[in-house]
Amino acid sequence: MSIDRRQVMVGTAGAALGLALPSFGANAPAEADIHVELHAVPDRIELQPGSPTRVWRYKARLLRGDAGALDTSMVMPVIRVRRGQRVRIDMINGLPESTIIHWHGLHVPEAMDGHPRFAVGPGERYVYDFVVDNRAGSYWFHPHPHGRTGKQVYAGLAGLFLVSDDEEAALGLPSGAQDLPLVIQDRNLDADNQFVYLDGAVGRGEAAQPQRRGRGMMGEGMMGGRMGGGMMGGRMMGGGMGSMMAAMMGVLGDRMLINGSLQPARTVERRAYRLRLLNASNTRSYKLAWHDGTPLTVIGNDGGLLAAPLQRDYVMLAPAERIDLWVDFGRWAAGSELTLRSLAFDGGIDMGGMMGSNTAPADGAAFAVHRFRIGEGAAQASTLPARLSAIPSAEPRMAINFERPKVFELTMGMMVWGINGAGFDMLGASELETVKLGTQEIWEFRNEGRGSMMGMVMPHSMHVHGLQFRVIARSVSNKFSDEYDTVKAGLVDEGWKDSVLVMPGERVRILLRFADYTGLFLYHCHMLEHEDSGLMRNYRVLA
Ligand code: C2O
Ligand code: CU
Repeated sequence: MSIDRRQVMVGTAGAALGLALPSFGANAPAEADIHVELHAVPDRIELQPGSPTRVWRYKARLLRGDAGALDTSMVMPVIRVRRGQRVRIDMINGLPESTIIHWHGLHVPEAMDGHPRFAVGPGERYVYDFVVDNRAGSYWFHPHPHGRTGKQVYAGLAGLFLVSDDEEAALGLPSGAQDLPLVIQDRNLDADNQFVYLDGAVGRGEAAQPQRRGRGMMGEGMMGGRMGGGMMGGRMMGGGMGSMMAAMMGVLGDRMLINGSLQPARTVERRAYRLRLLNASNTRSYKLAWHDGTPLTVIGNDGGLLAAPLQRDYVMLAPAERIDLWVDFGRWAAGSELTLRSLAFDGGIDMGGMMGSNTAPADGAAFAVHRFRIGEGAAQASTLPARLSAIPSAEPRMAINFERPKVFELTMGMMVWGINGAGFDMLGASELETVKLGTQEIWEFRNEGRGSMMGMVMPHSMHVHGLQFRVIARSVSNKFSDEYDTVKAGLVDEGWKDSVLVMPGERVRILLRFADYTGLFLYHCHMLEHEDSGLMRNYRVLA
């Protein structure tokens, strides 16, 4: 591919888009502390004996910065930065379709946020350049092209973006090999070891037929012209009714990937670890617990460390949510085995038995997620500080709409998701979705099945781009309270969040602060098939 054909986009806070760079692999501007190249490419990996598995993934190269800034030992890259560092990332699209990267949880200017309107075509690149302003925590990145996020993440595109800061460093938390990411994803593998998404095996024949996606047989007119390339695109044409249902309800797999590998177990030393759990599954939620009932010690969530550790019998982890656990494996006998399980819960995604040949466990079924073999040798004692971080208490009264929270109903029309009845609109935001820079607002997500067929109500994982929010209230209708009782003790609403599980019949209130950046940002359900089929909207921050 010739360099001349590449479109280069550069954006920084307030800088113009479309600035051409001299060449492929150009040196980072002197100011960047870390410069990483992320090449999104089709690839093959050895998941298990037999055929290699076709994936799409980010091949990463560190072009500037200390060696610790990039870990490529796993299928998905791990970028490690310190708060305040300036990061440049060149995303090169080596895929047969357009893509863009969203930095999930980071507070960055709109041109850096990976909105689908910034998606670049095959052979093009997008240059990110921003200063990391977030608290220490476990953030992540993934593609965000409209209508194809589910497919691209499923194919393997994702990575971790771990931020550290001085406050965290002073705690002496487990580090090095004891600071262990666990990215949890469920997948379907066919007999030839290939990932199976809605329209068949990932990567099949992609060289021959690059861009056969997008608006399909129904076209735009019939559904009111606001659908984008969702389920009415090519993807419903492959697998009949089961596939059509999955395109809307979500894709569930029967194999667990940990950090992109089929690795059911690992050996750990008898000492303290920090486990950074990320649910990067397309749709499945987990109810995580140790198999022997030992309580989990939670030290962080989406937006970093909590004020103090919490003990929970189990934690819920909806798509895109993160939980950091502290665990002292020295408390178990040398040579024993500990299993992280997902326990059964009610109210999960229900396909109504229409999944056809898919044998995946239902959302809410019990299964083993990952096993830890406790190593030999003496236990090394360590203690966890009782205070972790300074977190101001949430002040809902500071919201300009304290008396009248904005209501966002998660709605379902004729097989079309929406928010307050409207699907995605690439450049639009309603009056309700317009906010003022420097203010705080209260938003309420209502998941009451308004407009749904057959009274279907299912959980959603609501994510807001560009900021971290506080969860200030939850309530559930009586009709759903029994279901809700099976998950409620595992909801970790403490600290800062960017994604929140909203169960059937539930209303969740969050407090948001719109700081520093004007522009158009997304909020949406992070169950990726919901997002791709309309459960996504913009909000606009005005000066
Ligand atoms: Cu992680 Cu808009 O998403
Ligand atoms: Cu959803």
